Amino acid sequence: MKHISKLPNIETTIFSVMSALANKHQAINLSQGFPNFKSDKKLKDLVAKAMQSGYNQYAPMPGNIELRERIANKFDLLYNSSYHPETEITITAGATQAIFTIISAFVKQEDEVIIFKPAYDCYEPAILLQGAKPVSVQLNAPNYSVDWSAVKQKINHKTKMIIINTPHNPSGSVLSKADMLQLEALTKNTNIIVLSDEVYEHIIFDGKKHQSACLFPDLKARSFITASFGKTFHNTGWKIGYCCAPKPLMTEFRKVHQFNVFSVNHPMQKGLADYLQDSNHYLEIAAFYQEKRDLFLSLIKDSRFTFQASQGTYFQVLNFSEITQEYDVDFAKRLTVENKLAAIPLSVFNDDNKDDKVLRFCFAKTKDTLKKAAEIINKI
Ligand SMILES: Cc1ncc(COP(=O)(O)O)c(C=O)c1O
Repeated sequence: MKHISKLPNIETTIFSVMSALANKHQAINLSQGFPNFKSDKKLKDLVAKAMQSGYNQYAPMPGNIELRERIANKFDLLYNSSYHPETEITITAGATQAIFTIISAFVKQEDEVIIFKPAYDCYEPAILLQGAKPVSVQLNAPNYSVDWSAVKQKINHKTKMIIINTPHNPSGSVLSKADMLQLEALTKNTNIIVLSDEVYEHIIFDGKKHQSACLFPDLKARSFITASFGKTFHNTGWKIGYCCAPKPLMTEFRKVHQFNVFSVNHPMQKGLADYLQDSNHYLEIAAFYQEKRDLFLSLIKDSRFTFQASQGTYFQVLNFSEITQEYDVDFAKRLTVENKLAAIPLSVFNDDNKDDKVLRFCFAKTKDTLKKAAEIINKI
């Protein structure tokens, strides 16, 4: 049998590669972005209760209505922004499915989609599968700030979509209000759709306010916002999230959603709907992770790695140029095999594998794990 790959240059994601290497060498795994502590028992009990009380058949195609209502309340509370639960919010199988579905629903052959590198690695394959062209804007270490004049130069009549991600994985940078205003101005009077990946909206530090696309009226009108309950509530294995957009955009989204997933597992939706009744469950997340970031950074402050403190997400980028000039992928592998500590090399997310000599460490870990990781880091 012969076939031509639709994605000839796409390899196994670095997250699977590094996690497998970490397992093989029994290394502390700060590579893949998942917590190693338990999620809230209350939430798990609510999901179990939902299963026991019969939420085991298909949910409505756009999602359990109570959950959509709670999400609408959350937007109202946090951003004073309204999304109609019937027509403007859809529950998805993680943010990944939302992103894939948004791109499939709108991006056509020959279209261009602007992405910022280093980019989370699910954007590009979804664009390529539509026969469209990813157009990248490289962000540079150590600040990873956006040069909006470079973005302007890349916009043309083929530009269908711009994908932003704040707080940003892998760099831990965040977009400011000024950034969002620039994006709003650049897209005004165009047909460009913005996909705003906000899966880390609740993980933002030092009193900074998350600049959601919904806070900017012209942006909101052209934006999908994607979010992840897996990230927010420490259950990445549940693969459940949601997206919101104005009705005309969401109508198109659902035409694809109903045939690529139809609906998402029902008991978790019901459990999450009940859990979201208490807003503290998401309001407390930033302080919870800031404590972990601060602990991790205080433990490694005298190491030979250098850093700027992460502003959001549960990732910290560390520069290793004072230790070695090795290619970052080689250093990450050696660190895993020889020192028993796994991290993610950033070059794999960059244009032409640009190597800034930085690795990404996930600090969504117990204090004990962070201390053990810091001991290794301090010996290098
Ligand atoms: C920036 C970003 N977007 C989307 C996702 C996917 O989220 P989910 O696990 O809900 O599919 C991740 C997961 O790591 C992420 O970091």
